[in-house]
Amino acid sequence: MSIHDSGTAGGKTKPSGAKMTRISVPDLVARKGKEKIVCLTAYTTPMARALDPHVDLLLVGDSLGMVIYGFESTLPVTLDMMVMHGAAVRRGSEHACLVVDMPFGSYQESTEQAFRSAARLMRETGCSAVKLEGGREMAPTVEFLVKRGIPVMGHVGLMPQSVHTLGGYRARGRATDEAAGVMADAVAIAEAGAFSVVVEGVLEQVAQAITARIPVPTIGIGASVDCDGQVLVTEDMLGLFGAFKPRFVKRYAELADDIASAAASYAADVRTGVFPGPDNVFGSLKKSS
Ligand code: KIV
Repeated sequence: MSIHDSGTAGGKTKPSGAKMTRISVPDLVARKGKEKIVCLTAYTTPMARALDPHVDLLLVGDSLGMVIYGFESTLPVTLDMMVMHGAAVRRGSEHACLVVDMPFGSYQESTEQAFRSAARLMRETGCSAVKLEGGREMAPTVEFLVKRGIPVMGHVGLMPQSVHTLGGYRARGRATDEAAGVMADAVAIAEAGAFSVVVEGVLEQVAQAITARIPVPTIGIGASVDCDGQVLVTEDMLGLFGAFKPRFVKRYAELADDIASAAASYAADVRTGVFPGPDNVFGSLKKSS
């Protein structure tokens, strides 16, 4: 854990109750091999408020396209959407490091396009870093951004923005050449200056080998307990996203069931006249004398 000048330890609350400072990108890098990094996705202010005290990193992932907009993939997500949700999460957090995803089509065309998109995300959301998907082919882009002051998190292995090229959301690295390719991607992105790399949907040994090989933290999702940190899509782990459940997800709640049962109770109360009760109305008018 790093100690900030303000006296706040690694972004956690001071005993005096003074305002927390946000965990920084260098704080996260310093945790490699020492302290696990806890990451969850967030897309809205209330969810950010609930998660912020418990996590080190809040990721405004482009998974929001599927999870809250109901798209079949992350491809329709726009930069405008990421700006709005990134700013909302920033307003609801003060502790966790904030990373915002660069959506499909906002960075692949050229290094200049990537810079413009990343600079807009940082300026308009107040995030500390951006995340982009891609391996060796994206290394020059990562280097371009990092040299110009934009911290970048990489994302290798199963890359949802490449669902059509990869032929689905299947785990990567089963064949030896595919495993070597994912390793080469992670190394290239780390050498280009990424401060951390998300390793998604790869065989456990591949994630372990990448974690041992690169000097920056790996954040695993469907990867290995040996990664330097873990991330899950919050709605997956809360049981709020029912379209499908990836097999690597662990459910910590069944909120969709709780919501359905709360809605059913409310509907019954309204239909039987139990709601609103005396406590839920403003009472009757007093006669003026
Ligand atoms: O979009 C996202 O939420 C992500 C995480 C699942 C890593 O990229």
